[in-house]
Amino acid sequence: MHVAIIMDGNGRWARERGLERVEGHREGAESVRACIEAAVEDKIDQLSLFAFSEENWGRPADEVGTLMKLMMKSIQEETENLLSHDVRFRVLGDLEKVPGILRAAISTLEEVTAACKGLQLNIFLSYSGRWDILQAAKRFAADESDPAGASAADFEKYLVTAGIPEPDLLIRTSGEQRISNFLLWQCAYTEFYFTPVLWPDFRKPEFRAAISEFSHRDRRYGKVK
Ligand code: IPE
Ligand code: IPE
Ligand code: MG
Repeated sequence: MHVAIIMDGNGRWARERGLERVEGHREGAESVRACIEAAVEDKIDQLSLFAFSEENWGRPADEVGTLMKLMMKSIQEETENLLSHDVRFRVLGDLEKVPGILRAAISTLEEVTAACKGLQLNIFLSYSGRWDILQAAKRFAADESDPAGASAADFEKYLVTAGIPEPDLLIRTSGEQRISNFLLWQCAYTEFYFTPVLWPDFRKPEFRAAISEFSHRDRRYGKVK
């Protein structure tokens, strides 16, 4: 099973408490840890987390800087934990925009966990669905000898998510009911789950409640039964 999450509501969580937005991001990092743990315990195959969108580069520089530093800190602190739980770590997105020091830490963690066989953790950083489709289209146009005869399967090999099965369930926290340029191509038949819970409050019980709701969904893929 593949679970994807749009982790939203850190800023509102902080504002409700009279705190700075960064405090919401800090607390949100704890929810990331909790959901990874739940996914490992529940033997989920793939967990995809939308950590930072292409559009998020337009936020104030100090907030962007804090988010990058938090990402760096999480990588440093979680390396041992991920390895001991056999988690394969991957980061997907337009990494050219990401500070070099963070990019280097990401590559190292990807390399050391490359052979892990448990949960595959996909962090979407500097990612947007349109960026992905566009970069795929450019590489497809350059490579493909018979573009007119190509199938969807031929095309999707160029998406950054190539080889990763489509999400079965997409969770979005904080009450917003939109996709905000996440996995546009990949969510064609994904089940959506919206919850008003803000990301810093989304922990193991909330994660499991979403999985449990999903288990009652009737997926038809356009067919009749
Ligand atoms: C999600 O929380 C984290 C990122 C998008 C990086 P927000 O920062 O969007 O929090 P709200 O939506 O302003 O509450
Ligand atoms: C989506 O949240 C991006 C991430 C969770 C990383 P945003 O807070 O950026 O989305 P909008 O602006 O509410 O659509
Ligand atoms: Mg938001």
